[in-house]
Amino acid sequence: MIGIDKLGCYVPKTVLPLTTLAQARGVDSNKYTQGIGQREMAMVSHNEDVVTMACEAAHTILDDHDKASIDMVLFATETGIDYSKAASIYALDLLGLPSNTRAIELKQACYASTGAMFLAMDYVRSHPTKKVLVLSSDIAWYGFENSGEVTQGAGAIAMLISMNPRLGSINEGLKAVRNEKDFYRPIFSKVPLVDGKLSIGLYQDMLKEVEDHQSRRYTCFHLPFANMANKANRMLTYPMDEAHLNIVKELGSVVGNIYNGSLYLSLISVLLHAKEDLKDETIGMFAYGSGAMAEFFTITLNENYQEGINKTSLNQLLEGRQALSMDDYIELMQHYELKEYASDIDLSHYVKPYQTFVHESTTHGHRNYKKVK
Ligand code: CAA
Repeated sequence: MIGIDKLGCYVPKTVLPLTTLAQARGVDSNKYTQGIGQREMAMVSHNEDVVTMACEAAHTILDDHDKASIDMVLFATETGIDYSKAASIYALDLLGLPSNTRAIELKQACYASTGAMFLAMDYVRSHPTKKVLVLSSDIAWYGFENSGEVTQGAGAIAMLISMNPRLGSINEGLKAVRNEKDFYRPIFSKVPLVDGKLSIGLYQDMLKEVEDHQSRRYTCFHLPFANMANKANRMLTYPMDEAHLNIVKELGSVVGNIYNGSLYLSLISVLLHAKEDLKDETIGMFAYGSGAMAEFFTITLNENYQEGINKTSLNQLLEGRQALSMDDYIELMQHYELKEYASDIDLSHYVKPYQTFVHESTTHGHRNYKKVK
């Protein structure tokens, strides 16, 4: 058996309530909260980026024994900080992982995390005593005053892939790829270029192509916005009832789109909020990455699956979050654009009490990170 040994998550503590955004944009707030299904979106704070978020997620699950057995770190992101150097090299260093480790970054929109997980499983199959750390970390930023603004978010997922996994084993299903133009971020653009309606249609089409026509209590989805779950659920041969569907999208509705981590955030939502005991439960998983790649697979949870998550840290994910005003949001995201493209910047005065890892400065284009506790 091969699968997810441990699963961790991090989402920023600063959030924009969608009613605040709706009021500022002169939109009926029901469109955002009921039509799109989003209540809040997590926004990165001044000294966070994809590396710090990935490290925060991994830090909650890795002990010294895990660290010693990691042989490869795969970093899935579509918010790359460098065209050449892999974000996994920074993460490996910050997390104190062994230096005889492979470190690579992968990209295919929101699908790269799932692709990385299957590559990791193959690696573990041929190196059964080793583990692979798969990090997924993204900042969904579309810029101000466009239709994508309501479907932003930020966060990271860490998955440890191993033989005899504590959380659950992964069962391969069907996959499909098509050359499509729904969502892309060419090298001249700071934000993605999106045909949202085309993307939603492709997502639904490709789900229909790869789903396995089995009836089950939970199917988790990649969720660019919470109500995508409703649209996806309707495509299934055996749709979930409303109570189970709400559990699948609960976390997403207060975090927003975290791109590569989004499907696994939906899984964490089920692990945290399901009313049933989930031991031996098989959960459907649908991954979608624009451009476009889709895959349907399942995870069968173990009897002691709770050992594969850090419930305390997961329960703390939404504690002590700070609601941003519209002015705060504009300042924060203007700062984000400035800092992401700065070749030299000092961020050392921004450290918050809940942070373990910070982006402290950039010098000559090289990001300097610090573990602050
Ligand atoms: N009260 C209640 N509901 C209302 C309403 C009101 N006053 N006004 C509108 N609505 C409903 C609409 O009926 C609609 O519901 P249905 O989809 O069920 O018909 C919903 O609110 C959204 O309305 P619109 O379609 O008119 O909204 P929009 O034109 O602003 O576009 C969007 C929404 C396409 C998601 C857009 O925000 C977008 O392009 N986002 C970025 C891209 C994205 O998220 N695409 C999704 C798939 S892509 C993917 O999966 C990859 C990825 O991660 C990006």
